Amino acid sequence: MNISDTQSIPADLNTATTVRAFYALVPDEAIRMQFVALARDVARRSRGRAMMGDHVHLTLAFLGDVAVSTLPVLRRIGDRLPHAGSILDFDLLGAWRASGVAWIAPSVVPQALLDVHASLRDALADAGIMLDARPFRPHITLARRCVQPHPRAHCAPIRWPVNRLSLIGSELRPEGPLYSELATWELA
Ligand code: 2AM
Repeated sequence: MNISDTQSIPADLNTATTVRAFYALVPDEAIRMQFVALARDVARRSRGRAMMGDHVHLTLAFLGDVAVSTLPVLRRIGDRLPHAGSILDFDLLGAWRASGVAWIAPSVVPQALLDVHASLRDALADAGIMLDARPFRPHITLARRCVQPHPRAHCAPIRWPVNRLSLIGSELRPEGPLYSELATWELA
């Protein structure tokens, strides 16, 4: 079901001309809490900063700053994507040492997720929005500024049956980014 039409533009976007936006998968509360607990643990062990608890997501496409006037286009793109969910088993912990980011990822990425990402990338390209050329590496950031990033290792899996895709606006603030959902779609 597409529920994006029921959502209104946040009040502070009415005056802004651009919004920093990305499409992401967002877990429900019970799964979110599992990632939050893990993030705290990883941050402590890596001497980093756990991601903010309400920020658990897996980015499908980072758009950067886009004109607020393109939001209807971005919503239509979301409407037309294959709304296929998938079951992700997050079983691989790792870190990017250069950026001090600790993450968790599924060691096996289902084809359905790759298909949603490819459809999104193609639809955005048709709309003149080109994504970063780097390969899609699905992950959830657990901690940033890790002083002692841990080596890559398998872990007890967190199973996430993916059922929600969102277009998220991110406002950068000194205390950390403030996210708002600009549109949401259910995945079957
Ligand atoms: P990250 O967690 O690995 O940093 C919002 O910033 C989301 O978009 C994050 O999930 C972030 O991934 C992702 N993202 C992808 N490319 C980005 C970029 N060039 N700048 C900022 N965030 C980016």
